[in-house]
Amino acid sequence: MEIVAAADSDERGLTLLRVVGQLQRVIVFLHSFACDRGHLWSTQSAEARQGPVMSDEQITKKDDDVSRYFTSPPASLVREICEELILSQENLKEVCDVLHEELNKGLGKDTNPEATIKCFPTYVRELPNGKEKGRFLALDLGGTNFRVLLIQLGEKCSMDSRIYAVPQPIMVGPGDGLFDHIAECLASFIKERELGDELLPLGFTFSFPCKQEGLTKARLARWTKGFKCAGVEGRDVVELLKAAIARRGDVKIKICAILNDTTGTLMSCAWKNHNCRIGLIVGTGTNACYMEKLEKVELWDGDLDEPHQVIINTEWGAFGDNGCLDFIRTEYDNNIDCESINPGRQLYEKMISGMYMGEIARQVIIRLVAEGLLFNGNSSEILEEKGSFFTKYISEIESDKPGDYNNCRVILEELGLNSATDTDCANVRHVCECVSRRAAYLAAAGVAVLLNRIGEESVTVAVDGSVYRFHPHFHNLMTEQISHLIKPGMKFGLMLSEDGSGRGAALVAAVASRNSR
Ligand code: GLC
Repeated sequence: MEIVAAADSDERGLTLLRVVGQLQRVIVFLHSFACDRGHLWSTQSAEARQGPVMSDEQITKKDDDVSRYFTSPPASLVREICEELILSQENLKEVCDVLHEELNKGLGKDTNPEATIKCFPTYVRELPNGKEKGRFLALDLGGTNFRVLLIQLGEKCSMDSRIYAVPQPIMVGPGDGLFDHIAECLASFIKERELGDELLPLGFTFSFPCKQEGLTKARLARWTKGFKCAGVEGRDVVELLKAAIARRGDVKIKICAILNDTTGTLMSCAWKNHNCRIGLIVGTGTNACYMEKLEKVELWDGDLDEPHQVIINTEWGAFGDNGCLDFIRTEYDNNIDCESINPGRQLYEKMISGMYMGEIARQVIIRLVAEGLLFNGNSSEILEEKGSFFTKYISEIESDKPGDYNNCRVILEELGLNSATDTDCANVRHVCECVSRRAAYLAAAGVAVLLNRIGEESVTVAVDGSVYRFHPHFHNLMTEQISHLIKPGMKFGLMLSEDGSGRGAALVAAVASRNSR
C-alpha cells in the first residue's frame, strides 16, 4: 500500500523559500534530527518530511535516557531562575489526579455545564476497518492555513492538496467573511482539479471546540488559537459553511462529517493500527480525544445501539481555566495569558503548544538579560518584540549537539544578538530545554491519564502537530514520562499519524457513508 502525497505548488514554494533563506540552519537541523531518530531524513517524500511512521515494535521502544537532552546551564543563577519551569514527579502526579477529576466533571451530566474540560461526544463510534475506499474531499481549518484536499482511499491511496493562507484580518473579522473565504478556496480547488461534475463526499476538519449534535452538526463553543470571528460562537459551523457556498452558487458539495483534528488523527492511525484509541495534537494548539465506553458518558444523548462506545473530544486545552493548575503556573504563563486574545482561557494549552512555547522562552530570556545574566545585559530591538522568538527556534536550538551552538548562533544573529558567547548560547539552550521539557511532560501527564482510564493492556496513541513532529526530543521525553505515570504492566506507543486532518476526515466521511448505506 502506498500513500502518494502530492504537495501543491504553494507548499513547494514555501519550502523552497525557507530552504534558500535558512540553508545552513536547515541542513544542520535535518542532520541532527536524522541522527537522533536513527533514520535518514530526506526532503523528498511526505513520509520523510514528516518523520517515519513507526512499526509497533518501534513505538513501544522506550528511551529512558532522556537526561542527555538536558544540558546544564553554566551559571547557577540561570539555573535558579529556570527552576520554576521544572516539574517534579509529585507535581506531575498531581496534574494527573486533577485532570482525571476534571475529565469526570466533563463527562457527568450535572457537572458538565460548569466543567472546564468539556468532553464533547463526537458521534464517531466506529473505527475504520482498513477497507474503506473511494474519493473524498476534505477541508482543514485549524491554524493560520486552510487546506483543501482530494483524497483517494483504497488499494492505491493518494492525496492532492492545496494550502491557502487565512489572512489575520479574516481570523478576527466577521464570521461570514471567514466562511466566504473557505467557500472561495473550495470553489477554486474544485475548478482547478475539474471536479465540478462529481458530488464527492466531504469531511470538514474544524479544529476548534464544538458541541456536536450529530455527525454533521457542530456548534462552536468558543474560538481558540488566535481566531475571533464575530457571530460564530454558538452557531452550527456546517450551516455557516453551507450558507457561504449557497451565496456563491457555483459549487455543489455533500458534507458527510465534521470533526476535530484529534478525531482525524485517531482515525487516520486506526485505519491500519487496530490498537489505536487516542488521538493527540501538539501543534499550534493541544488537545486529545479517546474512545470511551458509552456507560461512562452520562452526557450521551444518542442511541444505545452497538457499538457501545464513542470518541470523546476532550478539549483539554482548557484544563486549568478554573485555577486548578495555578500551583505550577509561573509569571511567564501569566504574562502570556494576559497578553493573549483570550485571557483566562486555554491555560493548559498555553503551557504546552506551539503558539506559545517560543514566547515563553522569550520571556525567560528577557528576564535573564534584565538580570545581567545573558548577553552582558544587552538586549536587542527584535528580541524585545513580542512573538519574535519563534517556537521553531526551540526545536532548532535543541537540535544542536550538546556543546555545539551552530543553530543557536544563527538564530541569535537573526534576533540582532551578534556577540553571544558560548556561555550565552548554553544558557539560551537551557531555557529552551526547560520550556520544551515542561510542555512534553505536561502533555505526557494528559496521555497517561487517558491510558489509565482506557485501561487496555496495549494502546497506540496517534500523534500529530508541529511541535511533536519537529522538536527533536519531544517523542522521547513524552514516552519516558508516560511510562512513569501509567499503571504497571500497561504497554503503549506514540505513533506519528499521517495527515489526520485530511485522511482522517476522509475516513470519518467513509465510515459515515458506510453506515448510512
Ligand atoms: C485547540 C482547539 C482544539 C484543537 C487543538 C489542536 O485546542 O480548541 O479543538 O483540537 O487546538 O489543533
